[in-house]
Amino acid sequence: MHTGKQYHEFIETSQRDRVVREQFQKMALDLLPAGSNVLDFGAGTGIDAKLYAANGHPTDVYEPSAAMRDYLLQHCHEEIARETIVPVALPLTRKVHAVVANFAVLNHFADHTDLFEELSAVVRQKGFVLASMLNPYYLGDARYGWWRANIVRLLRYGRYAIASESNIHRFSPGIVARAASPHFRLERCFPRGFGWATEPFMFLLLRRT
Ligand SMILES: C[S@@+](CC[C@H](N)C(=O)[O-])C[C@H]1O[C@@H](n2cnc3c(N)ncnc32)[C@H](O)[C@@H]1O
Repeated sequence: MHTGKQYHEFIETSQRDRVVREQFQKMALDLLPAGSNVLDFGAGTGIDAKLYAANGHPTDVYEPSAAMRDYLLQHCHEEIARETIVPVALPLTRKVHAVVANFAVLNHFADHTDLFEELSAVVRQKGFVLASMLNPYYLGDARYGWWRANIVRLLRYGRYAIASESNIHRFSPGIVARAASPHFRLERCFPRGFGWATEPFMFLLLRRT
């Protein structure tokens, strides 16, 4: 169990994670129309929220972990005072153009059907959900017994979970797309081709229908 501060310092000093984070942030910023608002779902310590707010996007943050939230409140205190970042709680009610969920937030869910139903009530027409999820096909994980033990299940059912990993679930993009339908349509999946074997994360762009 780590504190929000420990998570923040670890992830900000990990060069590999910084590169992945910058890719995700760039994709989100390129997709967001100027001045549009966004909900950072599972916002952690507010690293991405701070950037979206600095780029002119009013940003709501939802974070269920008290440890993460406490650090977010410190890290983003100026933006919260200016109301360019607004902490929110469930149920979600404020309409947004987009929901972003970076670094495996969706891997904490066993099934996304109810989540996408809830998000469909707050994401405006033509808006989107952009999520970064653990890539279940990543060959870098093939050195672990749990990956080899589950690869057949993944290919057959598109999903699996490992109890020892704090209830983290892994999904093929098709399973997420099915859970998001009919409210959202899978518009883009990154990386493509060989990147499925070499990249630890995959980004899914789901467009509100
Ligand atoms: C690896 S952290 C990523 C945090 C942040 N998005 C970032 O980019 O640094 C995963 C986050 O998912 C959050 N989380 C776990 N279960 C969740 C749920 N049911 N709904 C929303 N967020 C959840 C955790 O509290 C944690 O902050």
